[in-house]
Amino acid sequence: MPVTPSPSPPGTPSSAGELLDAILAQKSELFRGSREILRDSYVPARLPHREQQIRAVAEVLAAALRGTVPSNLLIYGKIGTGKTAVVAQVRQDIQRRADAAESLTFISVNCGNMDTAYSLLQTIGNTFAKSEADRIPTGWSLDRVQSAMARLLDAKGGIVVLVLDEIDRLVARSGDNVLYTLSQLNTQLDTARLAIVGISNDLKFTNHLDARVRSRLNEEKILFPPYDAVQLQDILRDRAREAFKEGVTDPGVIERCAAYAALENGDARRALALLRLAAEMAERDHAKRITPDHVVKAKNRLEQDIIVDCCRTLPPHCKVLLYAILQSYERRRNGVLTGEVYDGYRRLAERLGLQPLHARSISNYVSELESLGLIRATIVSRGRGGRTREIIVDVPISETMPALEEDPLLAPVGRPKPRGQMLLTNFDNPGRTGPF
Ligand SMILES: Nc1ncnc2c1ncn2[C@@H]1O[C@H](COP(=O)(O)OP(=O)(O)OP(=O)(O)O)[C@@H](O)[C@H]1O
Ligand SMILES: [Mg+2]
Repeated sequence: MPVTPSPSPPGTPSSAGELLDAILAQKSELFRGSREILRDSYVPARLPHREQQIRAVAEVLAAALRGTVPSNLLIYGKIGTGKTAVVAQVRQDIQRRADAAESLTFISVNCGNMDTAYSLLQTIGNTFAKSEADRIPTGWSLDRVQSAMARLLDAKGGIVVLVLDEIDRLVARSGDNVLYTLSQLNTQLDTARLAIVGISNDLKFTNHLDARVRSRLNEEKILFPPYDAVQLQDILRDRAREAFKEGVTDPGVIERCAAYAALENGDARRALALLRLAAEMAERDHAKRITPDHVVKAKNRLEQDIIVDCCRTLPPHCKVLLYAILQSYERRRNGVLTGEVYDGYRRLAERLGLQPLHARSISNYVSELESLGLIRATIVSRGRGGRTREIIVDVPISETMPALEEDPLLAPVGRPKPRGQMLLTNFDNPGRTGPF
């Protein structure tokens, strides 16, 4: 006999789709409108405390509006200091000057997303392709891509401003040959002229460049200093005014977000993330206002997320080492000596079918994990046995182990999570959850 579902009270969503619609339609007590305003991708109309940098970037690029090629420009500054946002804003302002649009093309590439020099040149060239037949396909030689790209630029002509965001990652990945090619492209072009704007948060990245490339790219240089706590407060107040309903942030909320982020290198991205998460924490508590306590919760949560993300990106042997350390630490709930760590690592590596690295490399990885703040190693004296290092884990084991187990390399040692079985807290070992 078919089972008839019991009737729902009127107005109750009856399908997952309707439930989602109902959630989306719920009016937020805190947010005025879109939450996107607190996200990284949102470019605010005003960028407080970057007036000087905006003027400096605009002065260099304004040459394009006068029909002359701007100098190449390098922009440096630590993370979250507004480099990308400032360049995006100046770009918008220049492009709004309509008569420039025809003879001026901006191309912005995030080099963090480019695997190879090939894909960079292909992306630049294809910006100008008018038809499918014009496009540069994959599989050509690098020389051929380079000349096809130059032809496409010349076919359009005019001034091309190429913004290479995270340029240091391009150099780290594929060397400086491609920058050599691009920085001397004007000698090969007939009707087009190229200016390069490089953005980097590695202040020393030009040290690794060929001297000719360095001097060509460095025609103009602008440094973005980190924000201090007071400047971060101004940035947050602007955004909070746009994002939240009036009066929902308690006194101390903005100040606390700014103070935490100022300690973290004056990173505006971090300050905004804290404010966004604090609002989400408040919503989860069904609170009508965001309080300083929500900021503290947000900070703890953000730190955990950062730690777990950081563990995910470690090189394979370093992951195995960290996993072995976590296993020993979980068993002992106490400091682990380096000798035990190395034995644990070797056993685990062999179980996973890996050739264990030598003690020297492992010792380097221990230092790396320490500098990332994932573990702490202190020297302990063992009487006549000499001195050794004792390792203490500084990450939440219950979240870090599953994050490491996501790597197929470590999946075989991860605790199985049978389908349909509930994850229960292990009360003998509260740091860990898993099926028992
Ligand atoms: N002066 C400012 N006013 C308002 N928002 C800002 C300001 N500076 C930065 N932001 C915001 O902070 C976030 C980070 O800024 P941005 O992406 O420009 O930093 P960045 O210097 O490019 O960092 P990274 O080196 O990590 O790429 C963005 O959401 C941006 O809108
Ligand atoms: Mg950036």
